[in-house]
Amino acid sequence: MTDFDDRAFRNAMGNFCTGVVIATGMAEGEPAGFAAQSFVSLSLDPPLVALCPGKHSSSWPKLRDAGSFCINILGADQKPVCDAMAVSGGDKFAGLSWRPGVTGSPVLDGVLGYVDCELEAEHDAGDHTIAIGRVKDFALVDAEKLPLLFFRGSYGAFSGV
Ligand SMILES: Cc1cc2nc3c(=O)[nH]c(=O)nc-3n(C[C@H](O)[C@H](O)[C@H](O)COP(=O)(O)O)c2cc1C
Repeated sequence: MTDFDDRAFRNAMGNFCTGVVIATGMAEGEPAGFAAQSFVSLSLDPPLVALCPGKHSSSWPKLRDAGSFCINILGADQKPVCDAMAVSGGDKFAGLSWRPGVTGSPVLDGVLGYVDCELEAEHDAGDHTIAIGRVKDFALVDAEKLPLLFFRGSYGAFSGV
């Protein structure tokens, strides 16, 4: 497509408000992870979720190799965690507390909830892939917490209507 306006498309898609998750996994004993908005609950029977890692991601191949990943749903007070996980390289987990979930993938402290998965399949999709996770464990950690939202390139909290 020659006349496609990348920026206009990105801006238009930014009108779709999402939550923010941190996809985590273990790579040779070290935690790895990255911030993502492309998370969706996919199937109940069997229980599946999906995530779209960019092909530029340096962390996703580590999670893929581990064969499992945990989706950590951020609370509205966790923008600093999002910021730390939205950079490539460095020790992203410095200063973060976490525990291993049932797959071994990190469950971050202070999250609203998490979904711990085994990698079921990965499908090619342009400059991203679609990773399907089979749910092995999940929990609502803090029912009082509001989610961190991402909308038009900015962060906010849910206020209801
Ligand atoms: C709000 C937000 C949403 C993002 N969503 C995604 C996403 O869905 N998939 C993705 O691959 N990267 C996403 N990113 C970008 C990654 O977090 C970023 O590219 C990160 O540097 C990748 O780190 P890595 O090289 O350690 O994988 C998002 C970033 C932000 C701030």
